[in-house]
Amino acid sequence: MSNYHIKHLEEYYQVYRKSVRNPEVFWEEIAEEHFLWRKKWDNVLSWDFSKPEVKWFEGAQLNITENCIDRHLYTRGDKTAIIFEPNDPKEEAEHITYRQLHDRVCRMANVLKDKGIGKGDRVCIYLPMIPELAISVLACARIGAIHSVVFAGFSSTALATRINDSECKMVITSDGSYRGAKTIDLKGIVDEALEECNSIESVLVAKRINSDINMKDGRDHWLQPLLDDAYHDCVPEIMNAEDPLFILYTSGSTGKPKGMVHTTAGYMVYTAYTFKNVFQYREKDVYWCTADIGWITGHSYIVYGPLCNGATTVMFEGVPSYPDFGRFWDIVEKHKVNQFYTAPTAIRALAKEGVDHLEKHDLSSLKVLGTVGEPINEEAWHWYDDNVGKKKAPIVDTWWQTETGGIMITPIAFATPTKPTYATLPFIGIQPALMDEHGQEIKGNQVDGRLCIKFPWPSMARTIWGNHQRYKDTYFSAYDNKYFTGDGALRDEVGYYRITGRVDDVIIVSGHNLGTAPIEDAINEHPAVAESAIVGFPHDIKGNALYGYVTLKETGEGRDHNNLRKEINQLITEQIGPIAKLDKIQFTNGLPKTRSGKIMRRILRKIASKDTGNLGDTSTLLNPEVVQEIMDNAL
Ligand code: WTA
Repeated sequence: MSNYHIKHLEEYYQVYRKSVRNPEVFWEEIAEEHFLWRKKWDNVLSWDFSKPEVKWFEGAQLNITENCIDRHLYTRGDKTAIIFEPNDPKEEAEHITYRQLHDRVCRMANVLKDKGIGKGDRVCIYLPMIPELAISVLACARIGAIHSVVFAGFSSTALATRINDSECKMVITSDGSYRGAKTIDLKGIVDEALEECNSIESVLVAKRINSDINMKDGRDHWLQPLLDDAYHDCVPEIMNAEDPLFILYTSGSTGKPKGMVHTTAGYMVYTAYTFKNVFQYREKDVYWCTADIGWITGHSYIVYGPLCNGATTVMFEGVPSYPDFGRFWDIVEKHKVNQFYTAPTAIRALAKEGVDHLEKHDLSSLKVLGTVGEPINEEAWHWYDDNVGKKKAPIVDTWWQTETGGIMITPIAFATPTKPTYATLPFIGIQPALMDEHGQEIKGNQVDGRLCIKFPWPSMARTIWGNHQRYKDTYFSAYDNKYFTGDGALRDEVGYYRITGRVDDVIIVSGHNLGTAPIEDAINEHPAVAESAIVGFPHDIKGNALYGYVTLKETGEGRDHNNLRKEINQLITEQIGPIAKLDKIQFTNGLPKTRSGKIMRRILRKIASKDTGNLGDTSTLLNPEVVQEIMDNAL
């Protein structure tokens, strides 16, 4: 028998040792005992990081929705699978049982089929956090279509780029969305995006805000009447273990977003197993992850991981500040949430409001707290521990990435003693390594370096859609035979890891990864702009905020700088979305450059962070004189 549920530290070490000494035997036991297969695998693992190529459970056949839904019908048919909590607290929450979920996913799957979607086709899902989002994701998986969920805060340009990159045949969207007191015209954004897209054959539109929208004849269809007419059962498509399950785009430091491809069997096994253990989920628990399904956290730990375990998972449509900053605690109390998983940026925003809101609510149901998305600072960690968990609920600081599919370094609740700001120990089966600047692994403890993973794990992304070379270059070229994460980390005296942040040009703002290059491209489209450089600087709530240095063309001189700032942020909003707007924009006469013409971001970062005591060596610069000028005018 494998230990599916780890309960104390000794057991963790014991299972961990087994998982790294004999990974194939270990994962085979987990897969064998806890999932539903149409056919078992011929081979547990084959891998070669030099290609790179990784295959788990090759030869196996399955459908992930049978694991997430059908197999629960006998034992948990009337158990709530999804609790939908609407944006407006006055609107009633919806409890969707496993049986109802089965019905709704099957109907949706039949609608997709009827519109010509089949195995391997890409479907773009651009929806707010309403039940149709989870149902669309599962409906795609039911028929073997590859879903590509695009976060509904992205602009039409960003949406079009993603649709075109993976040549989606369909978009599923809604007439609009609620976000706190605001409504957003999602369908309008889709219409704009589709002017740039040739691959889309149909658009399904869920009704959410009852707005009067444009429906294009022959292309656009209201979803509800189609669902009402659809048959309530749908035979699942039998998928091979390594068939793609979904594409999810993430920002790179350069170029267009990377469509990370996740496959079926390994992703299922790993997300389900991590969910159960990290959060110590028990049968009657109510689990809530506040992320949006538009991000990997929502894919793995709102939809697939929880449902595969027959859990009750909360989907929240709104924002932490609406109608006031007590909303999260109101929801915890109302649904008696046992596991609560959120991001440091949300914790900081809530902490700023003090504890009044907390005191008005009964939070005694909380057993485990989680955090993800960026390093959590010590102050936020303690605030979370003292005031939300009342020092009784362990905090699982989970480090992972879109690319890793599931949680990689984390405490296991109640088993691993926590330590503020530390993600602590590698999860079962995960073999991290810290690397020095010469490409050597740094052994021993009390060291820091660049974080790599040296052995495959089941839920790792297999490629970048349409660009395997980029996958290799980005993740497998920096260090021989290792997956490079792009993060720095340190390892303390007992082997606990603390993630120190990105070591590349990705900046994490409010938990969202932003590449500098696409933002600079957007700015440079302004006719008055000659050149620009973006860096991050510390921000109390967002973790990092964006600082832009912009050099104007001659024609731009004499223009009203405040207007220019607005226009630049407007361009960024159009190209990427409001999450990428700059907090500060400084106009400069030039940017510091190396003799080979590269912008010296290191110096710009220090100036933006007001850390100019030691700028390092500037003698190699082509134009050292601009540094003083930039410092004198820093914002
Ligand atoms: C950062 C989110 C510190 C890290 C699941 C990583 C973290 C990037 C943590 C991936 C954490 C995520 N502590 N940093 N607990 N979790 N990160 O792809 O820099 O949106 O590389 O995946 O977020 O972000 P992504």
